[in-house]
Amino acid sequence: MFEKFQPAKADPILGLSKIFQADPRTEKIDLGVGVYKDDNGITPVMSSVKKAEARLLQEQNSKAYVSLAGAELFRDQMRDLVLGDAVAADRVATLQTPGGTGAIRQIFESMKVLNPDCTIWISDPSWPSHMSMATHMGFKIRGYSYFDNETRLVDTAAMMASFQDLKAGDLLLLHGCCHNPTGANIDIDTWKAITDLVIEKGAMPFIDIAYQGFGDGLDQDAAPLRYMASRVPEMFIAASCSKNFGLYRDRVGIAMIIAKDASTAELVQGNLAVLNRLNYSFAPDHGAAVVGMILADADLRAEWMAELEQMRMTMLTIRQDLANALRQQCNSDHFDFIAHHRGMFSRLGLNAEQVLSLREDHGMYLVGDSRINIAGLAGKRHLPFAIAVAKVAAVS
Ligand code: LMR
Repeated sequence: MFEKFQPAKADPILGLSKIFQADPRTEKIDLGVGVYKDDNGITPVMSSVKKAEARLLQEQNSKAYVSLAGAELFRDQMRDLVLGDAVAADRVATLQTPGGTGAIRQIFESMKVLNPDCTIWISDPSWPSHMSMATHMGFKIRGYSYFDNETRLVDTAAMMASFQDLKAGDLLLLHGCCHNPTGANIDIDTWKAITDLVIEKGAMPFIDIAYQGFGDGLDQDAAPLRYMASRVPEMFIAASCSKNFGLYRDRVGIAMIIAKDASTAELVQGNLAVLNRLNYSFAPDHGAAVVGMILADADLRAEWMAELEQMRMTMLTIRQDLANALRQQCNSDHFDFIAHHRGMFSRLGLNAEQVLSLREDHGMYLVGDSRINIAGLAGKRHLPFAIAVAKVAAVS
């Protein structure tokens, strides 16, 4: 029966890594998958993580199962890191998941139970897995206008116009910060207007926050989410520790559901644990134990925050350096938007042919929609990249 499978399509992001590895050119640059890299192109293990792991190795005296919903320390610490004091803790149900992607999956699973006929609204463009997972699960999807290809900023008017068709019970998926793939973020006044709209229409907000601390800072990046959480009666959140703790392969994430009151949150909590049981039983423990330990320990937390801040500042510096280099190489301010974008990515607005030429003629690997991972340009790689971009993109 297995021959019935269709040949698998390469993932638009992960597929790129394979072609990159096979490229023998030494000066090649990988700007594909969203992992942080240092000047040597290495994704380091954070020192706070190493210390927590060492302590865990010493102190952990059992590998018996934790609870189905995951470790309480991790879930409480993450709830506070993301939500601050925006809502009463007893209104928030939490579920440890394998990465942020696992959290998205479990939130979609919840919607399958609560409102299977809903439409899921996804920004156009968005992280490709949002669309493919929702489609795979049989949901109706609607893309909403997001990015203005001319200005490379959010097209706020077009986005708000799309939202006029939101229906009660629809799921509106928003990126909490550091929009992936564009790097263009919704401003706080627009977040306020969207909050008013979801309340008026009775739509369900779902905020995916995978890059907290990579944009303007830990609290600043969570501010729009916290604002919305403080006003809406109900909300979904998926958060990831892949990027801000560098725990990519350990798969650490959390789904949070804000309910209208404490007793409803308790009902939700029980159902979330069952969803873990139905899909994979227990989420992996190691990375979550590390995160819980770091956040609960004043010294480790301070060290982690300093390391995260250093990564953030490095990416901001690369943004400015790249914008300057492109200004010089292209003799134009066309790419100045790169300095205004935030987070790990920017969409450059190059066409497929230009992206291909960058790959084939210059060994520079961008995702097909011209998204670049800013961290891939560490170690002054922005200079050869700017020269190559100027060659393929004639701009004025
Ligand atoms: C990305 O967008 O590159 C990351 O979120 C990694 C992934 O899983 O796609």
